[in-house]
Amino acid sequence: MSVRRKLIAGNWKMNGLKAQLGEVSAIAPLAAGRADIDVALFLPATLIAAAAPLAGDVLIGGQDVHQAESGAYTGNVSAAMLVEAGAGGTLVGHSERRAYQCESSADVAAKAARAHGAGLMVVLCVGETLETREEGDDAAHAWVVDQLLASLPEDADPEWLTIAYEPVWAIGTGKVATPPQIAAMHGALRAALVEKLGEAGEAMRLLYGGSVSGDNAADILHLPNVDGALVGGASLTAAKFAPIIAAA
Ligand code: 13P
Repeated sequence: MSVRRKLIAGNWKMNGLKAQLGEVSAIAPLAAGRADIDVALFLPATLIAAAAPLAGDVLIGGQDVHQAESGAYTGNVSAAMLVEAGAGGTLVGHSERRAYQCESSADVAAKAARAHGAGLMVVLCVGETLETREEGDDAAHAWVVDQLLASLPEDADPEWLTIAYEPVWAIGTGKVATPPQIAAMHGALRAALVEKLGEAGEAMRLLYGGSVSGDNAADILHLPNVDGALVGGASLTAAKFAPIIAAA
């Protein structure tokens, strides 16, 4: 089995003003001390340019990117704009964007391809709703595998693409998926990636996200096929993010 470097990533969502940049400065040395893992922060677009010079080894990324190169898309941010601001990556397909911005898996695949074309690394998010989970584990696995395959860009490669499994019912709820649930879903996603991409599917990182905290990170990060975490609320301060980095 290939060795997959762990990635601990924070997603600040629609939180953070310049007053919070001190947290980026405080997270930077936590990553500098850890040559064995990668650390990333996906920030509001308005903070990227100011955060990048403070971030040291922490990769700064955006939370979404438009699939078009440029044009009449009011309110959107292009891949070239993210790069110019100092971003090294972006999230695509977060469940909040799929739900509130009605983004389809085809949109997500196009966004990932556009971001890669501009030189950004990409964390592509997938995950089932509570309704689907309540249909049973097998139904949930099949649903998320289908969503992943429909969201994968043509040239998916672990060099630049990471997958994040985030059950919608575990996001911001404090209701973390159980270790057996996470291990089973990640096993299903790994099998699908290997079937589709061969060795590249074996090497692709699979992050877990959904109410990850300093209290549960160690149990989650040691599961098979869990190659890191995508952290929302607990990434907003260095004090809460530090124990998750330490657990990796
Ligand atoms: P929480 O860690 O706040 O549950 O958010 C998870 C998430 O959506 C990260 O992208």
